Amino acid sequence: MMKMKMCVTAGLLFLMCVCLKEHMLEACSCGPAHPQELFCHADVVFKARVLSMKLIKSMYPGEGYFKFNINITKMYKGFEHAGIKHFFTPEDEGMCGISLTRSVYLFSGKLVSRHEGHAKKSLTVDLCDIVKHWSRLSKTEKKILSVHRKACNCQVSHCYIEPCDENKCYLRDIYDPDEGSQSICMANSTGSCRWINA
Ligand SMILES: *[C@@H]1O[C@H](CO)[C@@H](O)[C@H](O)[C@H]1NC(C)=O
Ligand SMILES: *[C@@H]1O[C@H](CO)[C@@H](O)[C@H](O)[C@H]1NC(C)=O
Repeated sequence: MMKMKMCVTAGLLFLMCVCLKEHMLEACSCGPAHPQELFCHADVVFKARVLSMKLIKSMYPGEGYFKFNINITKMYKGFEHAGIKHFFTPEDEGMCGISLTRSVYLFSGKLVSRHEGHAKKSLTVDLCDIVKHWSRLSKTEKKILSVHRKACNCQVSHCYIEPCDENKCYLRDIYDPDEGSQSICMANSTGSCRWINA
């Protein structure tokens, strides 16, 4: 009986260790993406000044959040969220956290529940989003902002197995962040999507 109890306890401990480890290993992974993909997949895209930040600690070390207070000066997507005054990013860069200075940026972000089961969503911006100093936007990023909603009539994608959908623009090398950096995917007058120079 005693032996069995010990076994159960050991088993539980083992499970707890595995779960904790799983919890900690959930790291940041997002491949390079074309800015048009980032724009079209985002819930919100906006220009904002970073005003201040505050660390919100978690019971798990390194899994807290930074809360950035922001002043949004222009919305490009998700116009109903123009009143947002802050967003969150993971504390740890390994968990996709970003670090910012008090300046003006172009951001894309997602509305997510920060607590499992909570209905209330908050804006999250991380390494997988657009985080670009306003003064350092590329030609392509400026072009996307100028056509905004129209940019999402066409899809930038990856083609792994031929034949691929004729009506999309493809990035050939998923590991090359510069590919397509001078182009955006737009529909011509007959609705066919093709790369055009930004
Ligand atoms: C936010 O930006 C607006 C427009 O640029 C400005 O008038 C306002 O003072 C700013 N607010 C803060 C808190 O910086
Ligand atoms: C639009 O692009 C398609 C595919 O490249 C082409 O066949 C079609 O002629 C183009 N239409 C116009 C009006 O340029």
